[in-house]
Amino acid sequence: RMCPLGWLGVASLCLGTLWAVPAQERRKAEKPKADLTLYENLDLDNYDLTLDNYGEILDLSNYEELYDYGDLAPKIEVGTLAPRPRDPKTLPDLGETTAGTPKLQPPSGAGPVPPAPIPGQALPSCRLCLCLGTSVYCDDADLEHIPALPPDTAYLYARFNRIGAVRAGDFRGLEKLKRIDLSSNSISWADADAFRLLPSLQELLLPENRLTALPELPRSIVRLDARLNRIPSAGLRPEAFRDLKQLQFLHLSDNQLDFIPVPLPESLRSLHLQNNNIRTMHEDTFCDSQDHGQIRRALEDIRLDGNPINLSLFPNAFFCLPRLPTGRF
Ligand SMILES: *[C@@H]1O[C@H](CO)[C@@H](O)[C@H](O)[C@H]1NC(C)=O
Repeated sequence: RMCPLGWLGVASLCLGTLWAVPAQERRKAEKPKADLTLYENLDLDNYDLTLDNYGEILDLSNYEELYDYGDLAPKIEVGTLAPRPRDPKTLPDLGETTAGTPKLQPPSGAGPVPPAPIPGQALPSCRLCLCLGTSVYCDDADLEHIPALPPDTAYLYARFNRIGAVRAGDFRGLEKLKRIDLSSNSISWADADAFRLLPSLQELLLPENRLTALPELPRSIVRLDARLNRIPSAGLRPEAFRDLKQLQFLHLSDNQLDFIPVPLPESLRSLHLQNNNIRTMHEDTFCDSQDHGQIRRALEDIRLDGNPINLSLFPNAFFCLPRLPTGRF
């Protein structure tokens, strides 16, 4: 015969299990709408998109390693959404700001996280978003416009919002902006000068939007990601990438392109054009048919799968590449 206390233990164990299961399911349901293929080029082991481990997503030291930006100092390290204050005087006041900032709490129940105070920069966006050093985090904040940003912003994350357009004035004067991440919004329009005049911009991330034309890019751009939009070849300016001598990653998969854009700068390492409508190509698209000694070592990752093109029909188009493109042969 089991004593009453024993039964109590068994009962509470069962109850505990019952409570634990829905909590896990709930967390799964809260996963943002982007599926993991959106981030296919990132290290998925470290890049689960649940907001529960928001801290891991924002570990920029991991992120930058992937792109081998050896000289792009200084790195910013963000351990968790709420930074561990080094100085007790900078401890955020939990009572003060919770009323006006409904969206930035991580769903794991870590409690309200007020914006980190930046002296002299009481911008509204730092109450709505989270400003940490030169990074501004505005993910999943119901934004319909680009928020006003502090003048020294270097990294902007405004993923999973409802932003519909980017205007010429939105980033004006932000000369230190290096990365703009607008993944998973509703952007169907970007003014010609929205990004073109940003002298430090290296990464422009626009996957999962509604663009039908590619915005103009500054010469400093290293990585452009406009996957999962609606861009036809007519939405690219002629020779749009020719003068972008820093461009290494050009990701335009899942659009409506009919042609491989040319010319491609020598700096290019990764060209993703899978799941478009490319049927044919020129023999000179990747390699110079007049120069049989040419070696194009950098361009080692070309994806043309998911297009109607039969790559067997272009036997002389790939001789300079270190690796054949992925696609139908
Ligand atoms: C591509 O073209 C080659 C040469 O005409 C042909 O042998 C091959 O079967 C084609 N491949 C596909 C997937 O259609």
